[in-house]
Amino acid sequence: MCPRVPVSPRPRVFFLPYLEATYSKTGRFTPEEVSILASVRVRQHVNPLSEKYRKPVTPPNWAKIYADPTQPLLLDIGCGRGQFLLSMAQLKPEQNFLGIEIREPLVEQANWRRDELGVTNLHYLFCNVNTSLQKLLDSLAEGVLHEVTVQFPDPWFKKRHARRRIVQPALVEVLASYLIEGGIVFLQSDVEAVMVEMCDRFQVHPSFSKQHKDMWLSTNPLLVSTERENAVFLQGKSIYRALFRKVARPSSLR
Ligand SMILES: C[S@@+](CC[C@H](N)C(=O)[O-])C[C@H]1O[C@@H](n2cnc3c(N)ncnc32)[C@H](O)[C@@H]1O
Repeated sequence: MCPRVPVSPRPRVFFLPYLEATYSKTGRFTPEEVSILASVRVRQHVNPLSEKYRKPVTPPNWAKIYADPTQPLLLDIGCGRGQFLLSMAQLKPEQNFLGIEIREPLVEQANWRRDELGVTNLHYLFCNVNTSLQKLLDSLAEGVLHEVTVQFPDPWFKKRHARRRIVQPALVEVLASYLIEGGIVFLQSDVEAVMVEMCDRFQVHPSFSKQHKDMWLSTNPLLVSTERENAVFLQGKSIYRALFRKVARPSSLR
């Protein structure tokens, strides 16, 4: 028999460690526990520039993570609850998927769901992409990074907070070094100013070429939409999208 889990009618507190303890004892969560996990409350935003998030992550042993670590990899930066990746990984078993997320409870929950479903080509990692990306990509087998997505990143509207945005010139530089030639970067947001800034940063980099003449892509080329994308769509708001491809750098710039 699984132990009973107290369910409070008040705002939920985060007691994942307690649930983990019961899980390791019984090897299963009760339906009650599953619903608690699904409603885990997390902070809406965290400041990626704060001291707590400055330390780069220690990369995992990829051979223990993926059934085949040499498969082409799609990296989703700021994956949130990771529903997009979970569906993609199930649709494309011949590819690996990695989600990076700065809110740890979301990562724990997503990895738990992945394990429950026995998906072996998917991993979620708790880290700050802006301090950990290079170390992380360096630990992967050479030439595995084929696709990168940044979907609905936190907009940080205030001017003084713009440095907290994910797509900074340094991040573009790291992606340019590790993405295979011909690899793609897909960007989308419902905030036009954020999207313009992200595009500008890829456009000025000699390794990236925008794949469409119009300012924005008219449709999403991926098979699955994200949670935020679905919410924005239901609100009837505009979505701005762009696709870049990594090209060979002109020899004069190498
Ligand atoms: C608005 S949510 C979008 C989630 C998902 N991509 C979607 O479209 O549904 C943006 C996510 O990026 C994460 N994030 C923000 N800054 C980050 C950083 N520096 N490193 C990793 N994740 C970050 C946030 O915690 C949040 O979950």
